[in-house]
Amino acid sequence: MSLTPISGRPGASSHDEPRHKITTASLREQKLRHEPITCLTAYDYSTARLIDEAGIDIVLVGDSLAQTMLGHQNTLSLTMDEMLHHVRASRRGVRHALLVADMPYGSYQIDAHDAVRNAARMVKESGAEVVKIEGGEKRADLILRIIDAEIPVAGHIGLTPQSVNVMGGYKVQGKNLSGIEQLMRDAVALDRAGVACLYLEGIPREVAAMITAEVNTPTIGIGAGPECDGQVLVLHDILNLSFGPPAKFVRRYGDAAALITQAVQSFRADVKSHKYPADEESYHLPRETNAALDTVLARKRAMQR
Ligand code: KIV
Repeated sequence: MSLTPISGRPGASSHDEPRHKITTASLREQKLRHEPITCLTAYDYSTARLIDEAGIDIVLVGDSLAQTMLGHQNTLSLTMDEMLHHVRASRRGVRHALLVADMPYGSYQIDAHDAVRNAARMVKESGAEVVKIEGGEKRADLILRIIDAEIPVAGHIGLTPQSVNVMGGYKVQGKNLSGIEQLMRDAVALDRAGVACLYLEGIPREVAAMITAEVNTPTIGIGAGPECDGQVLVLHDILNLSFGPPAKFVRRYGDAAALITQAVQSFRADVKSHKYPADEESYHLPRETNAALDTVLARKRAMQR
């Protein structure tokens, strides 16, 4: 399928610099060049396409879709099939960005064989280029096995939402010395295992800076301060579509909620007041058919008299 840029969209015009495909190798080069890596979540064809065409480096189909798209309280109930459905749709919209997909809770924690099989399924059935797995040191062996199956893996440490019940809520991690030591061990273990990139969520800026300086893999922060090699945010958060008070690190770049509400209210008002659709928004019969129809109707009326 061809992905023709939609004219008038920022980032989509032909005078832009030619864009290269982002790969796991080019992410490492970005880290070496100190060129910040950009990442946003997407969950479907249209948002993935808009994000890709705006020049974002990584499209992450995060399991946050459980909350943003499906209205769940947390990410725990999301299934492999639901994830695959959304990654497939996003895949169709992505041309240049690297497509990273979350492995849902339960798809890799229970059995290593199943984990590798599920990771392969994600790549084969959805077109994801990298699978993301939550957890540090204790996942290093599993990550090695998945990489051994030719599947690039993204790590995710710090506040890992799939461990919400173990953490006792969504809490910033690594706030004391033992927590910092654990995070450093987690980061180094995943770096040695060869992760393609490392998501750092909900950790103090100072700790994220130490990890970023220590590891070769590019770090991508969310609530982890500005020293990370890149930044990720949830699309619904930056667009005010999350229906709740934003976390400290969220910056709103638009108000899609207001835009949608206003458009929907205007549509409703136009229909109720017979202003929509107008004649120019209606289809018309061809002149000859209209004339023939008039004749038929006139004949019918004459017969009824
Ligand atoms: O699911 C998600 O959106 C994520 C990001 C917050 C990193 O994992």
